[in-house]
Amino acid sequence: MKNIAVFASGSGSNFQAILDAVQRGELEANISLLVCDKPGAYVTERANEAGIPAFVYCVKDYPSKADYEVEITSLLKSNKVDLIVLAGYMRLIGPTLLKEYEGRIVNIHPSLLPAFPGKDAIGQALAAKANWSGVTIHFVDEGMDTGPIIVQERVRIATEDTKESLQRKIQVSEHKLYPEILQMLLTRGEVEQDEKTRAY
Ligand code: GAR
Repeated sequence: MKNIAVFASGSGSNFQAILDAVQRGELEANISLLVCDKPGAYVTERANEAGIPAFVYCVKDYPSKADYEVEITSLLKSNKVDLIVLAGYMRLIGPTLLKEYEGRIVNIHPSLLPAFPGKDAIGQALAAKANWSGVTIHFVDEGMDTGPIIVQERVRIATEDTKESLQRKIQVSEHKLYPEILQMLLTRGEVEQDEKTRAY
């Protein structure tokens, strides 16, 4: 069974959805650990409750982002992590981590990329008066929400939608889609350490 590490900064509803899917046997993976960059984030409570080791690192405690990522990389390697799953991790992955895990880092973003990248994608979609938004799951590269897209799901924006109501709709889609796609990636041999066997 493959080992995954979830990276998150916030409430962790996606972390919870992944955990629930593992516990139901729908996602055949071992959640080795949680990496969180925000002390006190609710996601760490969810991990504690489930008995999953939670590691909180603050980038400002390190001389550089590279040093911060060196420490995280060594944690991942010592836990034999196969796949990094970003679930509301609000920080760009730097070259240090990317070099070690390229092709083995996935992210979920609450818009139909390339539309509305970066922070507050839901607010951006509402401000643009878009009729549709949605969810994108993609491999991570050095850019901001720019890596190869694995899957997208559309979500209709109603005229009466607020940030809260649209976020709820998008998260319903995220919570179903992310575990399904992780299961597909992990069981179809698309997450391999050997570069030659990668799917793209
Ligand atoms: C999710 O909606 C995720 O798509 C988004 O943060 C939210 C985290 O919610 N990620 C991004 O915006 C990344 N650019 P959660 O903490 O409840 O899982």
